[in-house]
Amino acid sequence: MNDSPITVDYALAMAEGVGPLGGLRDEELDAERPAFERAAKHVAAQTSDGTLGFWNLPADTEQLRQVRDVRLALPERLHDVLVLGIGGSSLGGRAIYQALSGPLELVGIGKRTHPRLHFPDNADPWMLAALLDVLTPAATVVLVVSKSGGTIETAAQLLVLKHWLQSALPESEVQKRIVAITDPKQGSLREEAVAQGWPTLSVPSNVGGRFSLLSPVGLLPALLAGADIDDLLQGAHAMAQRCTVTELRNNPAGVLAAVHVLQHRLRGRAINVMMPYCDQLRPFAAWYVQLWAESLGKRVNRAGEVVEQGPTPIAAVGATDQHAQMQLFMEGPRDKVVTFVRVQTPSRDLVIPESKGAAAYLGGTTLHALLEAEREGTTEALAMDGRPSLTVSLPRLDAWHLGALFFLYEAATAFAGELYGINAFDQPGVELGKRLAYGLLGREGFERTAQEIRTREAKRPKRYTVR
Ligand code: PA5
Repeated sequence: MNDSPITVDYALAMAEGVGPLGGLRDEELDAERPAFERAAKHVAAQTSDGTLGFWNLPADTEQLRQVRDVRLALPERLHDVLVLGIGGSSLGGRAIYQALSGPLELVGIGKRTHPRLHFPDNADPWMLAALLDVLTPAATVVLVVSKSGGTIETAAQLLVLKHWLQSALPESEVQKRIVAITDPKQGSLREEAVAQGWPTLSVPSNVGGRFSLLSPVGLLPALLAGADIDDLLQGAHAMAQRCTVTELRNNPAGVLAAVHVLQHRLRGRAINVMMPYCDQLRPFAAWYVQLWAESLGKRVNRAGEVVEQGPTPIAAVGATDQHAQMQLFMEGPRDKVVTFVRVQTPSRDLVIPESKGAAAYLGGTTLHALLEAEREGTTEALAMDGRPSLTVSLPRLDAWHLGALFFLYEAATAFAGELYGINAFDQPGVELGKRLAYGLLGREGFERTAQEIRTREAKRPKRYTVR
């Protein structure tokens, strides 16, 4: 439970903070108020009529019971959990895991109080093969997460894992070690789970992959990792209430959405950098990148006109990226808005010992204070050069504030979609690549697709290959 909310400080994205070239004028932001009000009402209407499901997830406590029941049915001796899934079916769970687990648990050192979680989301066998070499089938559980139930990478990994479990355990034991998290009714994963008698959990049919982390998709991995899933949902619920307000400047997600969309539309800043000064939030930045990119990058607008628009999100982490990408953010093209995420009270801290010599001035300060000074210095340096930024502050990084942070960005994404005039909830652009891959892998019904690719390949000029 918590009292102190997350704050969004956008002074340095406004003209008063960074000057008229880098910042928005008050009247420009205020001119967006009617559009935002319509956006908020449209999202609320879609939530009420059942088109959009993500907004109601934080209040859905029934799913907590279901997640706990599934956890109780899993084998007691559990060392490792393999979470099979990709994109929205993996990034949220991983972000929760890293944010709320101890660092040693993540790297597998020291005493363990909970099973280790692994997210081998990619089809690249490098990680999965290595894991299967060392994990014990009897002490491992597989969570297979796929909203559609047909995603090629996840389906392939599941086949590998089923074989791995079946080679070591009787069928009755295998059955207890695979949990399917998928659409409540549709898809081949649902069919298989029912046929095999695997424990299953549902992703509501009106919740898309990248908006699903506050469903069993994120909740079961979080529970297995020892996180307080009640607090996670309560924090998200409190944020959902703040984001229901239709007055733009009182709605934290509305401000995030409007500032980014207007910086793009009016100042040409199409690149959005997410830069937490906190290692625990590195995967949060990756989750944000997928959410922002897949939701907002669209060929057509809601009127069906070709617009080919969307911001480009970039993940960075402070202070590491001060020694990598910051040079570009500071002196490169003026096409970026940087969001700094700060955690006011760190999970752990260390005092820097007194010393003589060049580093004497650091004595007695803490590493967290050092990080904070670096964040503040970087924020000011950008502002002094008229480069806009926002700062999202969390009093601390616990389950409550993490839930609130996730919801804040889900709501901001939904609002940004409305302000851009596009549908933030589909992803037609990724479908073609999937169909072409099916053709190449010989899937029935995709024979012509394979032929087309081979014909195009044959026609491609060879003289452009350097050998
Ligand atoms: O956000 C999305 O919709 C996607 O990133 C999906 O999560 C991803 O493609 C995986 O799909 P699925 O959950 O159906 O396996």
